[in-house]
Amino acid sequence: MRVPLLDLKEQLKPLRAEMLAGITELIDSTAYILGERVEALESGVAEYCGTRHGVGVSSGTDALLAALMALDVGPGDFVLTTPYTFIATIGSILRLGARPLFADIEPLSYNISPAAMREVLNNPRWQGRIKAVMPVHLYGQCADMTAITSLARQYDIPIVEDAAQAIGAVCPLTIDGRTVWRRAGSMGRAGCFSFFPSKNLGGIGDGGMITVDDDDLAALIRVIRVHGGSSNYFHAVLGGNFRIDPIQAAALNVKLPHLPDWHKARRQNAALYCELLAECGLTADEITPPTAVYAEAAVLGGEAAADYHVYNQFVIRCRQRDELRDYLLAHDVGCAVYYPVPMHKQACVADMGLNDLRMPVAELAAAETLALPVYPELSRDMIHFVVENIYNFYRKAR
Ligand SMILES: Cc1ncc(COP(=O)(O)O)c(C=O)c1O
Repeated sequence: MRVPLLDLKEQLKPLRAEMLAGITELIDSTAYILGERVEALESGVAEYCGTRHGVGVSSGTDALLAALMALDVGPGDFVLTTPYTFIATIGSILRLGARPLFADIEPLSYNISPAAMREVLNNPRWQGRIKAVMPVHLYGQCADMTAITSLARQYDIPIVEDAAQAIGAVCPLTIDGRTVWRRAGSMGRAGCFSFFPSKNLGGIGDGGMITVDDDDLAALIRVIRVHGGSSNYFHAVLGGNFRIDPIQAAALNVKLPHLPDWHKARRQNAALYCELLAECGLTADEITPPTAVYAEAAVLGGEAAADYHVYNQFVIRCRQRDELRDYLLAHDVGCAVYYPVPMHKQACVADMGLNDLRMPVAELAAAETLALPVYPELSRDMIHFVVENIYNFYRKAR
C-alpha cells in the first residue's frame, strides 16, 4: 500500500464534469476578468463564513497584503503575530515596510498565546506603535479568539485573521459575557483565506478571499484589488493587481457546497487516528496526537462545535521526529513538517536582529511536529497502514 500526504485526484473525479462545464462556459463567455462567477464565489464564501462581504483575490498571500494595505499598515508600524506559521504571514507585513512583533504559541494548539500577546502589548516600548494583530488559525483550528478579541479591544487594535488554513473552522467567541459560535474569518476586521490546492477548499491554481463585515472597508479592499482606482486610470490610493481569476471561481463554486462533508470526513479520519494511536500504547514521550484538542471541542458545544477543528493538517508531536519522518517516507507513507524553522529564525529576517529572539514553544514545535495524511478520501485501511508504520518505527526504536 502507498498513502500519499495528499491526493487530489479522488476528490476531482465526481466533480470533474461539472467543473469543466463551468470553465467551458467561462471561456465561451469571454468575460475573463472578475464577473458573475467571482461574485457568486464571494457571496457564497461570505455567507458560509458569516460576514457581509467577501472579496476574491489572487492568493492567500495577497489577501493578507491587501487587508494590511487597507488598514494603512506601512513603514514604522508593527504587527503582532505568531512565529509559528507559513512565511506569507510575516511576508505581507515586511513587504509593506512594517515589522512583525512575535508572541510565542500555545503548546497544544500551536496557535498564538494570548498571555504572550499581553506581554508584548503591555510593553511600553510598543505602546501606540502596533497597527494590527494577526492571529493565524493554524492547521484548521482557530486561535483563542475570545482572549485575542478582548486584548484587541483593550488596546484598540484591529485584528486581521490569517484563516488561510481554516476555512469553516468554528470557535466560541465570548464578548461581554455572551458566547456565540463563529467561523474563522468573521471575528476580526478582516479574514484572509487561501484557495491553494491543498487547502480544505482548494482551487485548480492560486486564489484567495478576504471576508469583511464593514461596508467601507470592503469597498476600500475592492479598490485596492484593482490598482487603487474605483474607475479606470484614476487612482485614489495605491493598490495592486490582486484579482482572483474567474477560472478559479468557476472551479471553487462547484466545490464549495461539498466543504461541510469534506470537513466531516477529515474529522472522522482524525478521530480514527487518535483512537488507533491510543490503542498502540505509545507513551506521551514518543508521540502526542491532538487528542486534547478533540476532547475539548466535544465538551464545549455539541453540534455547534462540530467544525472546531477542520484538520487542514493532522499534526502529531513526536520526539524522534526526523527519524520517524524518514522511516514513514521510506515505507510509502506521505508526511511533512509544517514548519521546520519558525519565522524569527528565518534567514530573511536575520538583518533585523530577529534571529536572536527566543520563542521556546514555537522552537520546540518546529523540532517535534509531523503532519500525517488526513484528506477526506483517505480510507480506513490507509489510516490503519499509517498507524501500523508509526507503531513499527517505535517498536524498533525501543
Ligand atoms: C497560514 C498561511 N497564511 C498564508 C498563506 C498564503 O496563501 P497562498 O499560498 O494562497 O498565497 C498560507 C498558504 O499556505 C498559509 O498556510
